[in-house]
Amino acid sequence: MCGIVGYVGKQQAAPILLQGLSKLEYRGYDSAGVAVFDGDGIVVEKCKGRLKTLCDKLDDGNSLKGTLGIGHTRWATHGEPSDINSHPHMSDKGRIAVVHNGIIENYLKIKEYLIQKGYVFVSETDTEVIAHLADYYYSGDILDTVIKVINKLEGSYALGIICKDNPDEFIAVRKDSPLIIGLSEDGNFAASDIPAVLPYTRRIYLLEDKEIVRVRRDEVVVCNTDREVVQKEVFEVDWNVDAAEKGGYEHFMFKEIMEQPRALRDTVNPRIRDGKIVLDGISIKGKDVENIDNIYIVACGSAYHVGVVGKYIIEKLSRIHVEVDLASEFRYRTPLITDKTLLIVISQSGETADTIAALREGKRRGARVLSVVNVVGSTIARESDDLIYTWAGPEIAVATTKAYSTQLSVMYLLAGYFAQEKGLVSGEQTAEYIRILQKLPSLAEKVLENKEDIQYFASLHYNSKDVFFIGRGVDYAVSLEGSLKLKEISYIHSEAYAAGELKHGTISLIEEGTLVVALATQEALFDKMISNIKEVKARGAVVLALAVEGNTAIEQVADSVIYLPKCEDLIAPSLAVLPLQLFAYYISVIRACDVDKPRNLAKSVTVE
Ligand code: F6R
Repeated sequence: MCGIVGYVGKQQAAPILLQGLSKLEYRGYDSAGVAVFDGDGIVVEKCKGRLKTLCDKLDDGNSLKGTLGIGHTRWATHGEPSDINSHPHMSDKGRIAVVHNGIIENYLKIKEYLIQKGYVFVSETDTEVIAHLADYYYSGDILDTVIKVINKLEGSYALGIICKDNPDEFIAVRKDSPLIIGLSEDGNFAASDIPAVLPYTRRIYLLEDKEIVRVRRDEVVVCNTDREVVQKEVFEVDWNVDAAEKGGYEHFMFKEIMEQPRALRDTVNPRIRDGKIVLDGISIKGKDVENIDNIYIVACGSAYHVGVVGKYIIEKLSRIHVEVDLASEFRYRTPLITDKTLLIVISQSGETADTIAALREGKRRGARVLSVVNVVGSTIARESDDLIYTWAGPEIAVATTKAYSTQLSVMYLLAGYFAQEKGLVSGEQTAEYIRILQKLPSLAEKVLENKEDIQYFASLHYNSKDVFFIGRGVDYAVSLEGSLKLKEISYIHSEAYAAGELKHGTISLIEEGTLVVALATQEALFDKMISNIKEVKARGAVVLALAVEGNTAIEQVADSVIYLPKCEDLIAPSLAVLPLQLFAYYISVIRACDVDKPRNLAKSVTVE
């Protein structure tokens, strides 16, 4: 959950490192640091706080001279955010500096061993053991040293390592944490994610676990732990640098909310051909689909919420039993997996530690794995049997919006595809379903046009202490996401409840003035929702309802109503989530919260 970057080349390293870190801050932002070889030795500058503090301290990098360096932006795991615990970490005598993303699980054992050998530790981090262990094994050959070090490490890591004796190269290596290599005429890079190198190059190497890279100014050599050279293919990034910039918007989150119609089009349209749903990345067809008797969907956070909607629609359309699991739970239970089980893994980053572990556990038990991933070439993408990319483009705001929406659109595609392949639907029904899906982007545009209404509701409710989101069926699934969006970026306590469940305990929390956001987009459940709204109104709640245009009866029970354009029940979740995202966004802005980088969070959760 940290971001690392490395550079060696013709330019001054520090400004490039800081610029690269600014693109990785979404991965962690409680402290930052750089280490640069200045001609005599390694100079480390680091401090607690946002990257800006470090940039100010270093005059945007201009005060540090040298053309080789590594940098880090941190999301604390071992040891509080502090100057000392910030990376890079140095070995005794200042020979080796290390930046690390991940967790070293056996660090205490290594630390004890090194203390016995006379090493002195200054930080509480697990990373510091890597620097000292490298010093301990150092033989004059840094590649050999790094191989010895990683052979001792348990856990996950992406590492950038520089050594005082090698002023023209750094070493990069990964295991279970993301790392890419950027290649350019003016120098070469390593980084946790592509946006960090995109201003300089589009040519990258995607690394496999335990590939060790010697990065020099005019040469990059990748090898395995036996020092055998590995030939890598260059991956050309085809999206624009602007895609990872704010482009005039005040916040990434707002930009990404507004990009959703485009992202939906890009994800859905290429998968519709000749009146059919065509999923190129998956090889399960016809009989294979008929053969599936059980689907597990595993994911974390918002991606899990997508799975909850997915369960409703896949079961409804394809008549296959679906279970949804939090990846962190799935990995430690004993799911009933057979050779007829399909595991659907959903992840924006493709690097979420719990989701990767769940995928591997599912595979180990014999499930076929189909992943829905946004980041091309990520671990989950690479380890899956079948793959569907969401074409949301880079998502920078920590709170997901466009990735959620595109993941959801893939659930619709999959549900329709399974029904089509099982022969449950006629050509006409498929055509009608496709028509409904293809309407989604323009309906989403309509919803987003009404953003000022949502801004107004946010201005009425930004001071709420507690907010409850209620809904039935897929509306309940969307409530989960609405509630998460609100709490994570505005720090208002909120909960999502299946509307029929509230009276089994939680209704005791409703008091005079409590805000209840009630989703009532489902025709078949509309009257039931009216009753549930009445129940909370009777206890003093203020109700903001979400309904589909024309269902004006809701105005008789709710205090205010947000209307969605007329749409089929099935796709209402894709539209209903949009006002909830905007509601959370505007409340966060009014409360002067850090919208794109909420406290305690990081975008890519690469630790368990
Ligand atoms: C919330 C949010 C998280 C992620 C979760 C999974 O706004 O973004 O809940 O959905 O951490 O991340 P991915 O999709 O990268 O596996």
